[in-house]
Amino acid sequence: MLIRNIPGRAIKSSEITSKAVFEARRGFMRSAGVLGLGAIAGSVVGASPAKAATDLSFSASTMHTLETLGEKNLSDREAATSYNNFYEFGTGKDDPVDQARDFQPLPWTVSIEGEVANPGVYDLEDLMKPHMMEERVCRFRCVEAWSMVVPWVGVPMGQVIKRLEPTSKAKYVAFETLFDPERMPGQKRRVIPWPYVEGLRMDEAMNDLTLLTLGMYGERLPNQNGAPIRLVVPWKYGFKSIKSIVRITFTEEQPPCTWNIANAREYGFYSNVNPEVDHPRWSQARERRIGQGIFAERIPTLMFNGYEEQVAAMYSGMDLKKLY
Ligand code: MTE
Repeated sequence: MLIRNIPGRAIKSSEITSKAVFEARRGFMRSAGVLGLGAIAGSVVGASPAKAATDLSFSASTMHTLETLGEKNLSDREAATSYNNFYEFGTGKDDPVDQARDFQPLPWTVSIEGEVANPGVYDLEDLMKPHMMEERVCRFRCVEAWSMVVPWVGVPMGQVIKRLEPTSKAKYVAFETLFDPERMPGQKRRVIPWPYVEGLRMDEAMNDLTLLTLGMYGERLPNQNGAPIRLVVPWKYGFKSIKSIVRITFTEEQPPCTWNIANAREYGFYSNVNPEVDHPRWSQARERRIGQGIFAERIPTLMFNGYEEQVAAMYSGMDLKKLY
């Protein structure tokens, strides 16, 4: 992004949570059963903070698995939760895990605004509780040419949108991250314009792949990954997947996006993963999987991050070199 040399961080073997340990823990959580959404709003419903920090109830998606993705392994949890981009907590890859340690994400509200029949300030629980949560294994590709394969837990955004009933004027959905420099110390420096904002076209937001995400690896989102609620848009570069969302606005006009404001030549509104359109400063043809060390072989990047079948129709007739 702003940083020219992307520092890699080799993960020590001692830091790696094996898939077996992860699966065992996930199995335990499932069989433990009633870890209801009530716990999501922690202090609001009176759950103990320790419980609220980890509990999540969900069913595993059969459509979004390692097998359906054609992937062999999940990325190591330690890598996915310690190599982060979250400028609200510093610009270094290992800043967020340190600087977000004391962030208290709950209670949390999301303001629903604009062209919508059911606007209002929703408690996180009220916004999400009516919906079934699912776990989906997705590829996630950063514009910086690193990637990971993560089991996210969330609700397809289209289901939430339908319930909120956008008006016929709603053509886009705008998202905004919390702005609170006391709680997010990185915001004391104007490295990018604050608050972080993002946007999707309505059909993109309604696409089944777009996930309003509350957890990963069977647990609530760690602070550094965007607690308590973030977006995951797996066919787009990672910066579209905005973290710690406090406002969702349905708009008639295309909303502004932080990286596009910061550098329009390098970052467009669409930002679909596209190995044929290079970043002005580096190639997008290949990517490095995090957690495998910086010398691991780079693998080819797939069009729309491998989700071509599900999303290509939304862009038919568009020149993706111009509308990058
Ligand atoms: N959201 C906010 N609010 N602030 C950020 O700095 N970084 C983006 C995106 N969402 C960012 C953000 C970028 S560049 C990426 S690649 C992903 O978050 C990283 O998500 P991860 O840390 O969970 O891997």
